[in-house]
Amino acid sequence: MATVRELLIEGLERLRASGSEPARLDAELLLATALDTARTAILAHPEVAVGDAAADRFRMGIVRREAGEPVAYIRGVKEFHGLAFSVDDRALIPRPETERLVELAEAEVRRRLLEAPRPLDGPKLRIVDVGVGAGAVVIALAAVLRRRGMLDEVELTATDVSPEAIALATENAVGHAVADAIRFREADLLPEWEVRRWDLVLANLPYVRSDAMATLPRAAAFEPRLALDGGPDGLAVIARLLDLLPGTLDGAGAALLEIGGDQEADARALVEARLPGWSCAVERDLGGLPRVLVLRPPSGDTA
Ligand SMILES: C[S@@+](CC[C@H](N)C(=O)[O-])C[C@H]1O[C@@H](n2cnc3c(N)ncnc32)[C@H](O)[C@@H]1O
Repeated sequence: MATVRELLIEGLERLRASGSEPARLDAELLLATALDTARTAILAHPEVAVGDAAADRFRMGIVRREAGEPVAYIRGVKEFHGLAFSVDDRALIPRPETERLVELAEAEVRRRLLEAPRPLDGPKLRIVDVGVGAGAVVIALAAVLRRRGMLDEVELTATDVSPEAIALATENAVGHAVADAIRFREADLLPEWEVRRWDLVLANLPYVRSDAMATLPRAAAFEPRLALDGGPDGLAVIARLLDLLPGTLDGAGAALLEIGGDQEADARALVEARLPGWSCAVERDLGGLPRVLVLRPPSGDTA
């Protein structure tokens, strides 16, 4: 039987040879997954002998990683906003920069609920996450609002055109015990059959330019194209959502839309053209890159 150290060296050498980075971290994560333990445990005990079944699982993982598959898909899990999400090729792997969208959404909800407390029997704050994917944004928001005792004061809806993504997001909502708090709807952007005024529209829609798709890291080829390809200028899907906002966003509401770090100028120009008079602020992520558009209708706009 091989030891932890021997398997790690074997995996590391194979991943390095295949050009897979970061090879050491990936090898450690894949071995920890094969052993169903924490990465810190294998680092603390390199001398432990590994059973044949676990060694086989590890080598299978290495083969998949050599072929370029993302580690998160091989492990079946990705951490986002402090929560573990099940992930597979039904939906995009949640990205760390999207945590900014959740932070801003939480701040917006808290501001709205604390500045203007709603009557107990009054309408709840209506929030929709457009393009829910694996459920990262709406589920992380539900979890944080539950911790703050505010979950009962909001009504959460999540949409996606992909029924596979909706199924995965629903599984994640069940896993985090917030399935009862979120209505999942298969829809192109917003559910057409519902005439509803949203207080908060959240979206991390695809924003990669079609001609840049081929330049993405190899792992992205394993993710659904529908989740990444934003059309010729990268903003085609977001532009369609902008067109829907005047008819669907409450006059005192806000839309928080994730964009690519190089899209601030194009996104601002798009908002000016499609939503004249609306305010448009751009929030940065932890890396200092423009990341989230914050859009508000002109004051007094009750359309
Ligand atoms: C970039 S992924 C983001 C997923 C998730 N919100 C996240 O942040 O991890 C974009 C998601 O939008 C969905 N999508 C693409 N076009 C859409 C449309 N017209 N209406 C609704 N969802 C759409 C994709 O299926 C995908 O799940």
